[in-house]
Amino acid sequence: MARSRRPLIAGNWKMNGLTADALALAGSVAEGVKQAGWADREVLICPPATLLIGIARAVKGSGVLVGGQSCHAAASGAHTGDISAEMLRDAGASHVIVGHSERRTDCGETDAVVRAKAEAAWRAGLLPVVCIGETLAEREAGRTLTVLETQLKGSVPAGATAARLVVAYEPVWAIGTGKTPTTAEVAAAHAHIRRVLGGLVPDANAVRLLYGGSVKGSNAGELLAADDVDGALVGGASLKADEFLAIAKAA
Ligand code: 13P
Repeated sequence: MARSRRPLIAGNWKMNGLTADALALAGSVAEGVKQAGWADREVLICPPATLLIGIARAVKGSGVLVGGQSCHAAASGAHTGDISAEMLRDAGASHVIVGHSERRTDCGETDAVVRAKAEAAWRAGLLPVVCIGETLAEREAGRTLTVLETQLKGSVPAGATAARLVVAYEPVWAIGTGKTPTTAEVAAAHAHIRRVLGGLVPDANAVRLLYGGSVKGSNAGELLAADDVDGALVGGASLKADEFLAIAKAA
C-alpha cells in the first residue's frame, strides 16, 4: 500500500439499524477510534438515512466520518422517496456510496445513473465511493476485467481526481456470502482498475481503491495487504463494533 494513499475503512450498514442499537454501535465505534487515535487512516460509517443526523452528532469529535448509501442525481424536486446529496451533506455526511451492486440490481441503476450520482455528490461537496464488481457468471466466463473496465468508464465522471473519487471493488458473488477472491485475484483486479483509471483520472496512482465483499476481522489483514488495496468497504462485519474496529486496526 503506497504511503500517499491513506487507508479508508468504510462500514456500509445497508438497511439495518433502529435508533437505540444504532446509536450504541456508532458510539462504540467512535470510542474505539478515539482511543486508537489513528492519524494514518480514515474510518467511515454509512448508516441508513434515517440515522444520519443522530449518528453524525453521536460521533462528533471522534474522527469517525459519516456517509450516505446512495443519493438522487437532482438537488431537489419531485422525486418521492429519494434523498439528494445536498440533504446528506445537510445531515452531516461527508461521503456517499454510489453504484452499490444492490442498488444496481434492486433499483436498476446503470453506469450512467451512477455517474450522475457521483456528479451530484461533487455538487453537494461529498466524496463519492463508486462501486463496481462482477457477478459470478461474469467471473466464470472470464469477463471480470472487461466488466470492471466497462463499469469504470461508464460510472466515473469526467473531471475526476484522486481527491474527488474513491473506487470500491466489490465482486457481487463475495457480498454477504463468506466467499472472497484470493489476494492474488484482488490484487489483479485492483491493478487493472488502476490501469483503467490511468485513462480517466490525471493522478490515478493516488486514487484510493477499496475492496469489499465478506471482509471480517480474521481476513482483513490479508486482503488489505494485497497490492493496490487502500482500504475496505464492509457490510455485515460493520454491524459489530469489535469486528469493524479489528478491520480498521488491520489497515
Ligand atoms: P459484506 O461485507 O456483508 O459481504 O457486504 C459487503 C458490501 O456490500 C459492502 O458494501
